[in-house]
This record gives sequence, C-alpha cells and structure tokens, in this order.
Amino acid sequence: MRVYQTSDYQAMSRRAAGIISAQIIYKPDCVLGLATGSTPIGAYKQLIEWHKKGDLSFAGIHTVNLDEYVGLPGTHDQSYRYFMQNNLFDHVDVRPEWTNVPDGRAADVSTECARYNQLIEDLGGIDLQLLGMGHNGHIGFNEPAEAFELGTHLVDLSESTIQANKRFFASEADVPRQALTMGIRNIMQARHILVVVSGEDKADIVLKAFRGPVTPKVPASILQLHPNVTLVGDAAALSKLAVAGEPICG
Ligand code: GLP
Repeated sequence: MRVYQTSDYQAMSRRAAGIISAQIIYKPDCVLGLATGSTPIGAYKQLIEWHKKGDLSFAGIHTVNLDEYVGLPGTHDQSYRYFMQNNLFDHVDVRPEWTNVPDGRAADVSTECARYNQLIEDLGGIDLQLLGMGHNGHIGFNEPAEAFELGTHLVDLSESTIQANKRFFASEADVPRQALTMGIRNIMQARHILVVVSGEDKADIVLKAFRGPVTPKVPASILQLHPNVTLVGDAAALSKLAVAGEPICG
C-alpha cells in the first residue's frame, strides 16, 4: 500500500484528483469506479476545474458507482445518482449513457444485482476504484458482517451508517434503511484502489482497517490483501497510522 499524507482536506482532494486524472490520461478509455460521501467531493471539484481548463477529458471513460439507496429515484436529491450528476457528471464531458449507478428502484433486486455484476465484467473490470470509508469501516455499503459479501447485493444499513448519513436528509426517518452495493469481490477485482480519508474522526477506523486483523467486521480491512492500494489522507485522518509506523510518502 502507498500512503500519501497531505496537510489538509484541500491538499488531499488535489492529490486524489491527480491520481484519477493520471489514470484517465494514461488510459483515456478506462473504467472508473466512483464513490459518493462527502470525502470525494473536493477531488471531483478539482477534476471539473481541470476539465474546464481543457486539460482533462472524460469523453472515453465508463463509470460504475459503488452503491445506491433502495427506493430513491435518480431525481431524488439524496440519491447517489443525483449526487454524481451534481458533483461530477453534469460538469464534464462524460457520456451520460456510459455512467452507471445501481438502480435503487429496480422491481427485482436480484436481477438488478446480477445485471450490475455482469456490466462490470462486460466493461473488462474496473481500472481505478475510488473509495471513501465509513466510521465503522464500511466501503461502498458493505457493512460490518459475519462474512464478506462477494457480488453486488442488497444490504440493510447499520444503525451507525443511518446516524452518519441522516445529516443529508430532512429527518432520520427519511434515511433509506436499505441499499444496493457492489460487493467485496467487485471492489477487490479493481486493478487499482484509491482510498480517500479526511478528518480526525476517521483516525481510529483508518488504523483498524489498515493495521488491524482482516475481518468482515471491518470491511475495509480486506484492502490489506489487495496488491495495488493507494491511501490518500490528511494528517488528521492518518495521525494514528503514522504513529503506528506506516511509511508515508510526501
Ligand atoms: C456512505 C457511502 C460510502 C462512503 C461513506 C463515508 O455511506 N456509501 O461510499 O464512503 O458514506 O462518507 P463520508 O465520506 O461522508 O465520510
């Protein structure tokens, strides 16, 4: 694992955007696995800025998002489809039909999960998967569990995730209780994984995920077994990892 520590959120975002843009420049027809949550927003802003300057084109890429809330249409302002339109897709030259988010309103969930797995396979797999991390170590919406779920699946959100995400909804009761998410195999088959973390409140889980035992109780801990992971975090989020002696790049 490569670890890049930056001074603050803005520098973290710029560094993460640099890695994503390097991927696009290196392989203009690549498949990007994208993530929602507040952490990647700054990186998306930076990518939009580079695109607007004429330095970066998304015209050849396909995207696959990690997850989506069950029951929310893509037009709902808290759906992850809406998030992606708003924070990235509407501002760059990606082809709308080449952007993919699981359909949280699919009538048949198992057909939708199978379709999403097949889609990723048909695209030739994910070149670069961007990941944030929940406070309980969830990646996408793979919540702590007794076993790792492999493919795209329906998940009941944990109480801590509902609590963490309620800030985005009018009330706690409005937070969907279920989601569709890529599974651990979908994520682990990505050729490169870029994890972004920011803030002191992530320091404990970063340490647990990257220095603790590999266990489905901390889903992000599986990333220790991936051969090509880059972790970009600000000093606050990486503070405990640094104390544990992790070699940190500039
Ligand atoms: C959500 C998303 C995750 C994201 C996590 C952390 O639950 N499903 O993909 O990583 O939140 O969000 P944040 O970056 O806001 O801390």
